[in-house]
Amino acid sequence: MDIKEVIMKRRTIRKYQQKPISRDILSELAESARLAPSAANMQPLAYLVVDQADLLETVFATVKWAGYLAPHANPKEGEKPVAYILVLADTTIREDGYQHDAGAAIENISLLAWHYGIGSCWIGSVDRPALQKALKIPGKYAIDSVIALGYSAEESEAEDENGSIKYYKDDQKKLHVPKRKLTNICFFNQIED
Ligand SMILES: Cc1cc2nc3c(=O)[nH]c(=O)nc-3n(C[C@H](O)[C@H](O)[C@H](O)COP(=O)(O)O)c2cc1C
Repeated sequence: MDIKEVIMKRRTIRKYQQKPISRDILSELAESARLAPSAANMQPLAYLVVDQADLLETVFATVKWAGYLAPHANPKEGEKPVAYILVLADTTIREDGYQHDAGAAIENISLLAWHYGIGSCWIGSVDRPALQKALKIPGKYAIDSVIALGYSAEESEAEDENGSIKYYKDDQKKLHVPKRKLTNICFFNQIED
């Protein structure tokens, strides 16, 4: 898959095959994040990779899935993530303002994962205090986001929105993700109302 296809076809995936992701690939995903752009090259981010069975359950208990479809789109037993990458910010390097760095890093991870056939879900809805405590994450780190990972076990495709931006599932349980039409959001030289 070339870079264009990866970018155009990547979709959020919330159901996963129960096949482990190798440590080599997980490390490579963190490496792709390490090499992402960083404001003033301060590099405040750190990555906590979770792939241990009991800890997977711990993380799962602190995250929320697919607000528009909840609770129906929650991964069930046999569909849950096989790994997570927690994107942390070292607040001694940067107290705040690390969110753009995190976005760039997370997109790198999602795109490289997709290249390997691995689906991901960027999760912002996290019980951060509970997760910080459960994983004994030192206080200097703030949890920015959690990325759920696993080889894809569902299909999803983007389509032009037609009156609603709420993603939905069709009768075949395929996910559809309405995106605002390009003509409504991309302008050349001047914005016409
Ligand atoms: C900042 C951010 C936070 C998100 N948080 C969640 C979340 O808590 N739970 C979830 O299931 N999906 C979450 N998502 C995934 C979005 O729902 C998803 O990106 C969106 O529906 C568009 O689908 P697509 O990624 O396939 O284009 C988040 C995405 C972003 C960028």
